[in-house]
Amino acid sequence: MQNEIVTLDGPAGAGKSTVAKLVAKQLGFKYLDTGATYRATTLSIIKKMISIEDKKSLINLLDSIKIDFDIDGNVLLDNERVTNDIRTKTINSFVSQVSALQVVREYMVNLQRRITESGQYVVDGRDIGTVVLPNAFYKFYIDADVNERARRRHEEEISKGIKTTFEEVKKSVEDRDKYDSSREISPLTVPHDADVINTSIMSIQEVVTEIVLKVNYIKHKNIQ
Ligand code: DC
Repeated sequence: MQNEIVTLDGPAGAGKSTVAKLVAKQLGFKYLDTGATYRATTLSIIKKMISIEDKKSLINLLDSIKIDFDIDGNVLLDNERVTNDIRTKTINSFVSQVSALQVVREYMVNLQRRITESGQYVVDGRDIGTVVLPNAFYKFYIDADVNERARRRHEEEISKGIKTTFEEVKKSVEDRDKYDSSREISPLTVPHDADVINTSIMSIQEVVTEIVLKVNYIKHKNIQ
């Protein structure tokens, strides 16, 4: 069992990353955003103009790609800061196709396991409790109604200065739900041993408190 790992899976816009960052801070753990690894890979594919059908070029890219996180949580692609560049509409619409590729998942899962093998981590994604870190001790699945998830994403994008409408964001969230849940490899599913939290009518702080209390409770029970 990996006692020092908290996994947080769930669909797009459920609030995972905001919650995960705050939970990590309260527990004194580090945070790993696995979606960012797929987003950085997608950005690299676009920059290098590689076709995702061209497996050889894709493997060459994956062999040479360098994805890191700095101490402030910035995402570095080949030593360049790409934190904002991986959250554009173009990346949003292409990342599901890239993350559905088996070869990409193999590389990313290895990378995610390597990063988290030493240390205490809160890890968010789609397949963390099921595939990447199935032995993690504290597993959560965060969900919310699709309208609420779209509303949150829309608000987030507007605050970043991205010009978009609620309908556009909702369609993008629904498309990604469909794609992420129906793909053949590691589809988004609820880990059988996860606590499911529906955040539709909860505040961020309520979700964070619930997770931190549960982690501390289980930890305490195990020590006794
Ligand atoms: O969490 P996010 O929106 O940043 O994730 C971007 C995409 O990456 C999402 O469409 C699904 C994919 N993803 C995945 O397949 N597995 C993960 N562990 C994390 C993200």
